[in-house]
Amino acid sequence: MYYPDEIIEEVRSKNDIVDVISGYVRLQKKGANYVGLCPFHNEKTGSFSVSRSKQMFYCFGCHEGGNVITFIMKYENATFSEALEKLAERASITLPKYELSEEQKRKAGKKNLLLEINKEAARYFYYQLRGNSGKHGMDYFLKRQLSEETINAFGLGFALPFGDDLVKYLKSKDYKDADIIEAGLASFDEKRGLHDKFWNRVMFPIQDINHRVIGFGGRVMGEGEPKYLNSPETPVFDKSRNLFGLNFARSSKKDYLILCEGYMDVIAMHQAGFKEAVASLGTAFTSGQANLLKRFCNSVILSYDSDGAGTSAALRAIGILREVDLNAKVLDLKPYKDPDEFIKNLGREAFEERINTAKNSFFFETEVLEKGFDLKDPQEKTSFYREIAKKICGFADEVERNNYIDAVCERYNISADAMKKMVISYAASGIVRPEQTIKSGVKKADPAEGRKQAQRLLITWMSEERDIFDRISEYISPSDFTEELYRRVAERMFDSFNSGTPFEAASLVSLTQDEDEQKEIARLFNTKLTGLNGLPVEIDDVRDKEKALHDILISVKTASLEYHSQNIGSDPDAIKKVLEDKKLLDDLKKTKIKLGGDNRHG
Ligand code: UTP
Ligand code: MN
Repeated sequence: MYYPDEIIEEVRSKNDIVDVISGYVRLQKKGANYVGLCPFHNEKTGSFSVSRSKQMFYCFGCHEGGNVITFIMKYENATFSEALEKLAERASITLPKYELSEEQKRKAGKKNLLLEINKEAARYFYYQLRGNSGKHGMDYFLKRQLSEETINAFGLGFALPFGDDLVKYLKSKDYKDADIIEAGLASFDEKRGLHDKFWNRVMFPIQDINHRVIGFGGRVMGEGEPKYLNSPETPVFDKSRNLFGLNFARSSKKDYLILCEGYMDVIAMHQAGFKEAVASLGTAFTSGQANLLKRFCNSVILSYDSDGAGTSAALRAIGILREVDLNAKVLDLKPYKDPDEFIKNLGREAFEERINTAKNSFFFETEVLEKGFDLKDPQEKTSFYREIAKKICGFADEVERNNYIDAVCERYNISADAMKKMVISYAASGIVRPEQTIKSGVKKADPAEGRKQAQRLLITWMSEERDIFDRISEYISPSDFTEELYRRVAERMFDSFNSGTPFEAASLVSLTQDEDEQKEIARLFNTKLTGLNGLPVEIDDVRDKEKALHDILISVKTASLEYHSQNIGSDPDAIKKVLEDKKLLDDLKKTKIKLGGDNRHG
């Protein structure tokens, strides 16, 4: 469905955001805003804020944000049109009905289209599994002891044993060949024409954290190669930034998540009540996934296969988790291969017990290391101790370092003093420089991020205080915003300020139907000045505020000048603008911005 901007704006403005969100989240009034626990990440203190005057929500913890339409899209896992339709109904607005033209369809966004195709495919596989021709698949799942409830909860499905069944179905829904291919569900060759990627397999839909189907894993029933066939990477399926099961695990109340290798492992764990289990997507665990996990938990329990491959994968994952400062522990599944088999044989209590006794990742590493040395041989024993010393150098915190020294010495019966000396000599010799192996979690300032932050701050401040805009409008124009999205927002904002039409930030969120862009726009209107420790600071003193504003302005203007000088080409207008801007910047540096009263030129 395509809806004109005026309709979108009418629906948005007739659904007060505080009223709508109150139906989903318990909100408390705090100052000008309403605050509650964020429904999009696991938290104990409320970072989720809803503003009636801005008609926007924003989470200072996970940075989700947007207007009332974005909220429904996210919370209900709806497309833009679906959210709009729901809100229209709530406000008793009748939407005009007309289908998209081909041209409009293309404009409506590739991502939405690919998500729609994946959703249709998931529906189709789901339906097939439950029909007569899906009996083979259903028998397979039941044989693997999945309950009907589990099969439904995960939306499991079945791809029929024909080569172009899904393709026919999708084409009957008017999707184009090229789009079906781009969604990763079909390929084309001379011999077979357009044909299904998945056939005669049981299907596992892969969902993002907002429950949208982004791809599939398909398993052969029984033996066969490959055991699992997965959707290729597509514009909506980024295997390094999604995790199977996280859409459910995110609302588990535990402060840890269990990371395992397989789809079946996740499903078996959830069925046994361990709803905190997630898995990577047929590829090795990545730092993108580690960052994603960090949004939802403080520590991760690794539950990888107990064989050699599983052990090396676990060692790699430990390193990646450490880089983002996530604690890791490792489950011992022996004598079973994986969580699925373990639970089938020993049951949920036994598994719970293994969780409670999961091994600290450091000892897991030293135990694996130990296997490479013959500790009866004095020389090898020394080498082993040296390796341990080297690892201990990796702990930045002295107390933590000493605790590990004590624990490891007790375990291997080493003198703690001797180990301390060894650690110090390693650190001093520079073979391992502690600061190289340690990731303290404080990220190196990224210049691009700093530039964006200044631009966001400026937009937030101008939107909150009209006076600020009036003070600085002689120095700044939309073209100073070097991010394309920011510039689009600034253009609208400057237009309405200059023409005196009322400005509503929330309406700008619907400049785009893309959730990620909506979130970025919400962020533009909710940026706070942060101190060195990364926490927001409130400025009460007007002088301090003037000074901060001056700094931000200079930073935005300098970045803009840099950007435009680099992209100047030979366009005389562009050269003129750069020269003017240079003068403006010099002038700005000598001027004191005053809030209330006139700016003082120096
Ligand atoms: P496993 O071989 O451990 O499979 O692969 P599994 O999940 O335990 O499945 P069952 O119990 O044998 O049915 C772990 C994960 O590696 C990926 C899949 O994501 C799988 O869940 N994988 C495995 C593939 O992508 N392709 C393959 O051929 C095999
Ligand atoms: Mn398995």
